[in-house]
Amino acid sequence: MTKIKKAVIPAAGLGTRVLPASKSMPKEMLPIVDKPAIQYIVEEAVKSGIEDILIITSRGKTTVEDHFDRNPELEAKLLAAKKQEVYDQMVAISQMANIQYVRQKETKGLGHAVLCAKAFVGKEPFAVLYGDDVILGGNRPACKELCDVYEQYGIGVAGIKPVPIEDISKYCSVALHPAEGQDHIYHLTDMVEKPSLSEVLSNYSILGRVVLPPEIFPILENTAPGAGGEIQLTDAMKVLAREYGMMGVEYSGTRYDMGNKFGILQAIVEVALEHPQVKDQFKEYLKQVAARF
Ligand code: UTP
Repeated sequence: MTKIKKAVIPAAGLGTRVLPASKSMPKEMLPIVDKPAIQYIVEEAVKSGIEDILIITSRGKTTVEDHFDRNPELEAKLLAAKKQEVYDQMVAISQMANIQYVRQKETKGLGHAVLCAKAFVGKEPFAVLYGDDVILGGNRPACKELCDVYEQYGIGVAGIKPVPIEDISKYCSVALHPAEGQDHIYHLTDMVEKPSLSEVLSNYSILGRVVLPPEIFPILENTAPGAGGEIQLTDAMKVLAREYGMMGVEYSGTRYDMGNKFGILQAIVEVALEHPQVKDQFKEYLKQVAARF
């Protein structure tokens, strides 16, 4: 079965839920302690065996490109100051993967953003890592868990998680049944984006990661705008699931939504509590703060 070597990271959204932070800075560049969110995502892709990455950007997102580029002036300064370790880290960021960029000229939705990757993807299956969903912890990188299931079943795979049923109308809802003899792996038969109460299929939603066959592109080309007037990837995956079948994997890591103020805070606290340079000081600080409430 084909190994997944290509990944697409859509990062062209407007980030209206985290304004004003995202007014002139991409939400995908928001730091989680000392690394921008999108670096965690690229690292996950690389650890999953991905070699080529296409980041979908838009106006005002050039800092994403700068982050994964060399910075000769900074590097010379670091070398002159004998900060070899930091220098090595900075150079390594630009060498993690073969990263390319394409601009989505209008923010017409996640489905439209993925369609912008058609030429890059060609006729191979590929992973999609949503640019504002950072997934940490777990047994293996979430993208790798999905790629393994793709290699086993040969059909599209979505990363799924249960969400509180009262919140399901903010997400998509999927119809699923367990795959025989497998833990956390399901057959997906149907899905609906931002369901009304009567449309809810289950409390499971697609969150952050999918692996898709190239057959998704002709479907996307024929997908009309859906919820919110955007071309929804869910609407195209629904057709894919019905025509070719799709799997769902409840990945083991925890997802942090960097497009949401509370998600950003959760990610920062969790990473800080594990960070070798700040964890001890931060734990003490948190205890002091907690004692005040
Ligand atoms: P979201 O729907 O969470 O992003 O899309 P958004 O549109 O920026 O969010 P709000 O509602 O305005 O706060 C998930 C991912 O898809 C990208 C986003 O950048 C995000 O990483 N995306 C979304 C695109 O690349 N293009 C789009 O047209 C929409």
